Amino acid sequence: MGLQENTKYGNVWENAQMQPGESGGVDAADIMKPEPHRILKVTHETKAEFTFRVEFPYASKNGQFCMLSIPKVGEAPISISGKGDGWVEFTIRKVGRLTDGVFELHEGSSLYLRGPFGHPWPMEEFAGADKHLVVISGGTGLAPVRTTLNYFYDHPEKIADLYLIAGFKDVSGALFDEEREKWAAAEHFHTIYTLDDSTAPGFETGMVTAHIDKIPFAEFGDNYHVAIVGPPPMMHFSALGCLKCGVPEDKIWVSFERKMQCAVGKCGHCKINETYVCLEGPVLHYPKAKTLFD
Ligand SMILES: Cc1cc2nc3c(=O)[nH]c(=O)nc-3n(C[C@H](O)[C@H](O)[C@H](O)COP(=O)(O)OP(=O)(O)OC[C@H]3O[C@@H](n4cnc5c(N)ncnc54)[C@H](O)[C@@H]3O)c2cc1C
Ligand code: FES
Repeated sequence: MGLQENTKYGNVWENAQMQPGESGGVDAADIMKPEPHRILKVTHETKAEFTFRVEFPYASKNGQFCMLSIPKVGEAPISISGKGDGWVEFTIRKVGRLTDGVFELHEGSSLYLRGPFGHPWPMEEFAGADKHLVVISGGTGLAPVRTTLNYFYDHPEKIADLYLIAGFKDVSGALFDEEREKWAAAEHFHTIYTLDDSTAPGFETGMVTAHIDKIPFAEFGDNYHVAIVGPPPMMHFSALGCLKCGVPEDKIWVSFERKMQCAVGKCGHCKINETYVCLEGPVLHYPKAKTLFD
């Protein structure tokens, strides 16, 4: 289904919820009703970012998000950062009301969820034995792209190679230590891990934008895509950095974060101009996304 078709209320269900085998049978009438899911494991990634593994019997697509809530506390959209048989993971940065509450929870507690929602990464376009994928992430932005990275790590035959530039403010904020090492060691991955203005073993220095010209875009021919995810200024300047290296706009995809309430195109909280980010996003094609940056 194309992005343009995913603009109507019914389409979000069809695309993200209601396809047999994709939704696990979530009923349309229940789409606004959070259900309790048991927390299986909590991993402390950094001081401010924990990964919660939660029982989840439904399928999801890479790049989708769920609405997480705690009764009488709040609700917020959080990307699915990992998935396996009967579970999903959320990597959460503690920034406010809901996330403060989630950080009080522990293994065995219930987390309330709705979803999965949203337009996923275009995996069918990214994949191909002769295709290259460039992923550029900033901070917690590595979370929404983690399932895609692990998919291509597990399936080297599905891609020619993958270039990852992952930036963090400093080493104490670096996420997914074990996976970063695993990706760096993979023959079909080329990784640049970078810290804004400090150094540490295994890291370069500088913003992600300082490393974009190291990607050999000219060698890729027409066979590549770029996925960018992080804070809006980081995505904006990373996209401009790619364009400066000769990347055409239609090779670039971004994942857009926006305040959300209903997540199904009803309340307008996520709306920028005429675009409902909860329906058309969070993953957006750059030719569309570039009109939405503040
Ligand atoms: C599609 C999508 C995917 C996302 N994925 C993730 C993810 O994987 N991981 C993740 O950590 N986050 C993710 N987010 C972001 C997350 O939804 C927000 O951080 C969310 O606001 C957290 O909710 P909260 O109630 O904890 O914070 P809130 O209480 O809503 O606070 C959010 C921000 O607003 C500020 N704020 C709150 N109240 C005030 C006030 N009165 N005045 C001024 N500032 C205030 C806070 O300091 C904080 O910076 C995602 C967002 C979207 C849209
Ligand atoms: S969150 Fe998008 S319309 Fe309500």
